Amino acid sequence: MQYTPDIQKSMIGLLEAQFTQFRDQLDARDVASKNQTLATLPMPEHGAGLDDFYQLFNQHIAENLSASNGSRYWGFVTGGANPCATFADWLVALFNQNVAQRGDSIASELELHTLAWLCELFFLPVDFKGVFTTGATAANILGALSARQYVGKLQGIDVAQQGMAGVTVEIYAATPHASMIQSLGMAGFGQKSWHQVRTLSNSEALCVDSLAHMLSNSNCKGKVVIASAATVTGTDYDDLKAISQLCKLHGAWLHVDAAFGLFERLLNGPHGKTAGIECADSITLDCHKWLNVPYDCGVFLTRQPSYLVQTCDVPAPYLNTRSEHTNFRSMGIENSRRFRALPVWATLIGYGKKGIKKQIENNVVLAQVFAQWLAKSEHYELVKPCELNVVLFCPNASHSLESVEACLTAINASGRVFMTPGVWQGKPIIRAALSNWETSESDIEQVTTLLQALGE
Ligand SMILES: Cc1ncc(COP(=O)(O)O)c(C=O)c1O
Repeated sequence: MQYTPDIQKSMIGLLEAQFTQFRDQLDARDVASKNQTLATLPMPEHGAGLDDFYQLFNQHIAENLSASNGSRYWGFVTGGANPCATFADWLVALFNQNVAQRGDSIASELELHTLAWLCELFFLPVDFKGVFTTGATAANILGALSARQYVGKLQGIDVAQQGMAGVTVEIYAATPHASMIQSLGMAGFGQKSWHQVRTLSNSEALCVDSLAHMLSNSNCKGKVVIASAATVTGTDYDDLKAISQLCKLHGAWLHVDAAFGLFERLLNGPHGKTAGIECADSITLDCHKWLNVPYDCGVFLTRQPSYLVQTCDVPAPYLNTRSEHTNFRSMGIENSRRFRALPVWATLIGYGKKGIKKQIENNVVLAQVFAQWLAKSEHYELVKPCELNVVLFCPNASHSLESVEACLTAINASGRVFMTPGVWQGKPIIRAALSNWETSESDIEQVTTLLQALGE
């Protein structure tokens, strides 16, 4: 099959039909699909063509994809995909640039330009340099790798070249995201290597006094602090101002996982809950969460890019482009990279600072409305006051399904909303995270009506 005029016409026609149908049916589609069993299909000996692919896609796949792009997918921290970003993502596939290094297109310039715009959006100093990643997990891995190179260098060891033998390190964190723990394992520190810092009472935020005590009592030459802004369950923010001062005093690398919590800066500015993040050595941000661009799109930012480059750069004659600028393939895990900046750039242009802020505000207000309904409800307990976009709750003794697991299963089986489990202060809970740009009051009404019926 070639790009003949007929095929091109067919592609546009099928995309238009699918797009219209998908958008028209998104609200009615089961939020989590009920049938996830795929028939075993024989692989064709001879190419079956675009039409056959499309027919099989419709027959076996399309119906059973979830409405994770819709307004009532409240699991994990899941954004949707706004029209500007979706359109830009189509263009990404059409042009299919490899944004690995400079020298053959303007795509690398756009990545730099978009990263600078993100810094402006989030009131971060221009000395933060970075790279688009597949998501927050990949950004956390880069944080762990940069910290590793830093602690090695402090001890006269270039870890990227020599390996970790002889490097001593102590890592401190209170409530790191699972992907951060995974990153510590992948970086060779070990998933169990970190020292647990006490949290503040009834919070997942780090107790600064405890951290100060631990750092002061440590003789270790390589220290790393992993901070959260915010934690994925309680949406609690570590005191980044105090922590960054401690890190400076003790020569510790400070990585902040701000995958979705950085968006709080749009509401409260640089002096709100993330004050001090500008002093971090590295930051994780996720655009496929609260910026509502399609997967996969995260960001790693660092004020000390040399450690990242030392870690990721490798010479090879066929890769040499004689560029005076650092290549993106020397700042991340991949040699070949998707043009991830375009949907972000499109979103920043399409909505502007004010439009994006409005979407965040909308989610926060609606999360409050949902939390207040739960607090007043006869069948549910609001487990923690809602402070951002995540609502924690459980069924109470008067609920027809008293067990959290049974209640969550029934909620998700409805097909009207999707939530995920969690644990708050040792107790199982249900977690609803609102980060879709299209979520509206009508969604809250639909969900509260469902929850009321289940309670009875
Ligand atoms: C705080 C935090 N960090 C990291 C991640 C991992 O993000 P991703 O799924 O984009 O890798 C998440 C996802 O929910 C998160 O909330």
